[in-house]
Amino acid sequence: MSHDPDAPVLDFAGTTPYEDYVHADVLTHLQHPLSDDPGEMAFLVTTQVMELWFTAIVHEWQTAAARLRGDDLDGALAALKRSGYEMTSLNASWEPLAHLTPGQFNSYRSALGEGSGFQSAMYRRLEFLLGEKSASMLVPHRGTPRVHAELEKALHEPSLYDEALRYLARHGAEVPEAVLRRDVTRRYEPDPGVEAVWVRVYEGDENSGAYRLGEALTEVAELVWRWRNDHLVATRRAMGAKTGTGGSSGVAWLEKRAAKPVFPELWTARSHV
Ligand code: HEM
Repeated sequence: MSHDPDAPVLDFAGTTPYEDYVHADVLTHLQHPLSDDPGEMAFLVTTQVMELWFTAIVHEWQTAAARLRGDDLDGALAALKRSGYEMTSLNASWEPLAHLTPGQFNSYRSALGEGSGFQSAMYRRLEFLLGEKSASMLVPHRGTPRVHAELEKALHEPSLYDEALRYLARHGAEVPEAVLRRDVTRRYEPDPGVEAVWVRVYEGDENSGAYRLGEALTEVAELVWRWRNDHLVATRRAMGAKTGTGGSSGVAWLEKRAAKPVFPELWTARSHV
């Protein structure tokens, strides 16, 4: 049989180079539904896809934080831009779960037991990077040493927002000392001095580094808010006001979480520009 010179290579001594890089064999054998319901696969795969996007976004925000720390604004903005595209894809992944009826969700809901996205460690890493720190969020992960250690490290590192404010301070902005020296293991609380910094930035040159950083962070904040909101609406549609599998009050609890502004002063400053 003559080989078509345009065709791809077929013969490999061991596993394919694609497999060695992508680990598709591992990735596509990690789907173990807990019920017989044919709709559960979409729920499981969507959740896994979101975990992968969380992983990529954590990587981008860590990169952005490190670049800011090194005064490389362009490097930070490039990472934030990539994260925006990834978050748009993440948010589009709600589609398979956005139209569930309570009956459809019930077909596999009880099989989930106490399992809940609330226990997602990678989502917690995202929240930590946004400044939503909480030592108690480590508790569910005590039984998984690697995950627990990663979360503990992330708890003690400055958030992306902390790094942004430190960057602004190094470049002439009057960020309050108390904010710069805050205990980074605690939740970031909005500060009027930081709001004043952003007001000044937004009254200034649109091409300044600080202005571009403000807009890049606003984009991130909006896309996070959209994820939380889409999650809330999908949940309301699939289970109404029932309590969550994770033990919370469900939609009422998620509403409170979704109402929390990301990078708060970037939003409140807009009223004063
Ligand atoms: C229709 C599908 C879904 C429903 C009905 C639902 C429901 C809920 C509920 C009720 C909670 C509150 C905690 C609890 O008591 O369980 C929660 C939290 C959470 N869910 Fe979902 N969820 C769905 C899909 C997903 C998917 C696909 C993900 C992706 C990983 C996810 C990630 C999360 C996260 C990260 C939290 C914690 C949020 C926070 O800490 O603020 N959920 N979910």
